[in-house]
Amino acid sequence: MASRRSKATGKKGPKLVQSRLQIGPQHKLTKCSKCEMSYSPSVIDDVATHANYHDLHLKGKKWSSNWGAVVSINPSNESLLLTPPPSSSKAGTSRLRDERIVMLRPDHQAELRTTLKIMDIVNDELHAPHNENDFWSNPDGTGRAFLYIKGGRAVAVLTIEILEPARCRWMVYEDRSIVQRVQPCFTLGISRIWVCRTQRNCGIATKLLEAARANTIYGKTVERWAMAWSQPTDSGGKLASYYNGVKHKSGKLLIPCYL
Ligand SMILES: CC(C)(COP(=O)(O)OP(=O)(O)OC[C@H]1O[C@@H](n2cnc3c(N)ncnc32)[C@H](O)[C@@H]1OP(=O)(O)O)[C@@H](O)C(=O)NCCC(=O)NCCS
Ligand SMILES: [Zn+2]
Repeated sequence: MASRRSKATGKKGPKLVQSRLQIGPQHKLTKCSKCEMSYSPSVIDDVATHANYHDLHLKGKKWSSNWGAVVSINPSNESLLLTPPPSSSKAGTSRLRDERIVMLRPDHQAELRTTLKIMDIVNDELHAPHNENDFWSNPDGTGRAFLYIKGGRAVAVLTIEILEPARCRWMVYEDRSIVQRVQPCFTLGISRIWVCRTQRNCGIATKLLEAARANTIYGKTVERWAMAWSQPTDSGGKLASYYNGVKHKSGKLLIPCYL
């Protein structure tokens, strides 16, 4: 993404090519070692784009205390609620707590806009399509988006969809091959899961998954094995094997996934 954006901001008309080339080394790209974005430190737009990306990628995005329906308070203490509380004064008090998991309310524009901005960064990092938001962002959609809020920031996000049985498959962890001629039936599809860089390896993704399986379908907690993954990345595959990988009698580790 970074280099794509850098190219866009450095775009120029044909007559300017020569003079740009004469400016030379000062327009060289540099790669940030923390967020891995390539940008040109001498181009103001690039510097601003990098600052924005860097901040979000490392620390998440500022999140207002009254955004989202709270489904879990102080998740570090494992106190998951089974159903989201109504927007009452009680819920208002819990929102003041430092750590919580919230479910996005698609009909609330400010929280929706912010979540879409976070998803832009997530999709860039995952090299995933940017147009797969309807199931959670549309008020009529059957999917959900969950966010982990810590220190006034959304530091992690999970989008989840309800699956048609025809999409479900087993994947062999070792070589990422799909098991043929077996048609498993899973309930929920993990479309995107992302934790900002400074908060990784603290169990946050696991807590989001636990909140989602208890709160996506009203009144029903989905079994862990019925949560399927969509083309897991390297780290996503490791999380999947830890969270709900299944050892087959052949000795191979299988991961529930969907197409
Ligand atoms: C994958 C990702 C969401 C994991 O988030 P996280 O909050 O760090 O995950 P957790 O701390 O809940 O991990 C739980 C367990 O999963 C395994 N695990 C998760 N990420 C791992 C990694 N990068 N390497 C090795 N094991 C990993 C570990 O067993 C871990 O338990 P442990 O720390 O006690 O060993 C995060 O690394 C991320 O956002 N990556 C970039 C986006 C991405 O690739 N998303 C996956 C799309 S399928
Ligand atoms: Zn950076």
